[in-house]
Amino acid sequence: MRIVKVKDYQEMSRKVANLISAQITLNPSSILGLATGSTPEGAYKILARRYKKGDLDFSEVVSFNLDEYVGLSGEHPQSYRYFMNKNLFDLVNIDLDYTYVPRGTASDPDEMCDDYEAELESYGYVDLQILGLGRNGHIGFNEPSDHFSEKTYCVDLTESTIEANARLFDSADEVPRQAYTMGIGTIMHAGIIVLAASGKEKAQALHDALEGPITPACPASILQMHEDVIVVADEDALSLCTL
Ligand code: GLP
Repeated sequence: MRIVKVKDYQEMSRKVANLISAQITLNPSSILGLATGSTPEGAYKILARRYKKGDLDFSEVVSFNLDEYVGLSGEHPQSYRYFMNKNLFDLVNIDLDYTYVPRGTASDPDEMCDDYEAELESYGYVDLQILGLGRNGHIGFNEPSDHFSEKTYCVDLTESTIEANARLFDSADEVPRQAYTMGIGTIMHAGIIVLAASGKEKAQALHDALEGPITPACPASILQMHEDVIVVADEDALSLCTL
């Protein structure tokens, strides 16, 4: 596990954007695993600028997103499909047909999850996976649990996640109670994993993930078992780590 300690959110965003840029430059038909949330937003802005300047080409890139709220369509402003279109896909020349996000409105949840996992498998899973970190140590929407999930599935969100994500909705009541997410096993198939974290509110989760025991009570702690993880985190997020 390599730890890249940066000063702040801006520097974290530049480093994450650099890693994604390098991946696409070295392999234009890369399979990217993408995340939503405040953490990668700055990096996506930088990528869009680089594309506009002619420095990056997304035409052959394929992407798979980590997760989506159950029940939200891609037109819903809080859906992760909407987030990705607005913050990245609509700003670059990626082929939308090759941007995969779990379908929140699928009529058959089990079939949707199986299809998503099968699609990932058909590509040999992702080359580079970007991960944010939940305040409770979740990755994707893999909440603390008594076991590590394997494949894409439908999960019940915890109260703390609903509260943390309520800031983006009009009220906590509007936050969906369930989500589709790649499983921990799915995520661990990635060739390289970039875990990004910024801010004091991530410090405990990042400490537990990097320096605590490997336990499903802190889903991100499984990353200690992956052979190619790059942690890009700022001083605040790393403030509880002894490293
Ligand atoms: C959300 C998402 C995660 C994300 C995390 C942190 O619940 N499902 O994929 O990494 O919470 O979000 P943020 O980056 O906004 O802090």
